[in-house]
Amino acid sequence: MALFQLVSPDIAVDIGTNNTRVYVKDKGIVVNEPSVVIMRGESKEIIAIGDSAEELIGRSPGNIRIVHPLRDGVIVDYEMAQIMIHYFVSKAIGTRYFMRPRVVVTMPSKVSKVEHSAVINAMEKIGARQIFVVEQAFAAALGTGLPVYEPQGSFIVDIGGGTTEVALVSMGGIVLSHSIRVAGNKIDEAISGFLKKQHGILVTERVAEQLKLDLADVFRTEGMEHVAVVRGRDIATGMPLTVDVDMVKVSEAISDTLREILGAIKWVLGRIPPELAADILQNGIFLTGGSAALPNLDSMIAAEFGVPVSVARDAGECTTLGAGYMADHFDMLGNMNRSDS
Ligand SMILES: Nc1ncnc2c1ncn2[C@@H]1O[C@H](COP(=O)(O)OP(=O)(O)OP(=O)(O)O)[C@@H](O)[C@H]1O
Ligand SMILES: [Mg+2]
Repeated sequence: MALFQLVSPDIAVDIGTNNTRVYVKDKGIVVNEPSVVIMRGESKEIIAIGDSAEELIGRSPGNIRIVHPLRDGVIVDYEMAQIMIHYFVSKAIGTRYFMRPRVVVTMPSKVSKVEHSAVINAMEKIGARQIFVVEQAFAAALGTGLPVYEPQGSFIVDIGGGTTEVALVSMGGIVLSHSIRVAGNKIDEAISGFLKKQHGILVTERVAEQLKLDLADVFRTEGMEHVAVVRGRDIATGMPLTVDVDMVKVSEAISDTLREILGAIKWVLGRIPPELAADILQNGIFLTGGSAALPNLDSMIAAEFGVPVSVARDAGECTTLGAGYMADHFDMLGNMNRSDS
């Protein structure tokens, strides 16, 4: 008998459209990096993954390919997702442990069988000996510290980069949920579209995102008379172009996208069973995900529905922390959503 056996730690993997996070039992989040891979165009040789890839974007020669293995919350490039996840997990737990971790993995609530299998297969490929799938909204509610296992309703809205997950949670499960493939990235696209149409300028995703981050308020635009200098390329000539952009107009340009998010919240709010409605009226709605930081989005939602709205602490990390809590208690997870391999 071996004197000691290497036991692989239990982990949680939150594969986000924009960011992937890995939580290691009893340690916390040890990897939090962009979900991006850079490879050489022809040879397909991987040049960089995650943080190091992000640094190269915009600085590297033309024959490289920037790959985002996820779109709208789901894996679209299986091979690259696989390589990326393997890299992040080995960074988190080291290659010597690599054989057989038990993994809690997050997933949006509305995925096709193929999209679901892509995540399970990716986990099997990294050698997971047990896989427990948790819906992102449930993990977000748990990571926010809401009483998800109590016979009490909790309302969570997780707005990430690719999806908005809205759910009513009670007694350890999701009572009602809705998921739309509209979140931070669609907001950036709305800004790019506006700049193209109104100013005839093509900008990078980063520039569009930065304008969004510079918005002072997405709810009220009074007092926001602020002009931003935007650099890009002239849509007609391809030449470098600089324009002055009115931030009030940028705020207006994202309003339709925000309304889609409000629509998803309304869908769930309108279907809450009467027994849980009082809990939601009293405790309100909790926002998580990177996009929960949009300034005054909470006030906008509160004004729309007349319900208190709070942005969770560490909003961007709640989903991973919730999944991580489950990894910390892997032996107590039920058999539902579990698969052995
Ligand atoms: N301060 C901020 N204000 C507004 N938006 C922000 C801020 N910080 C980050 N974001 C946005 O949050 C989004 C990323 O959030 P997050 O990391 O939760 O997404 P993800 O988990 O990768 O995606 P998903 O869960 O949808 O697959 C991006 O669209 C980013 O622009
Ligand atoms: Mg997420």
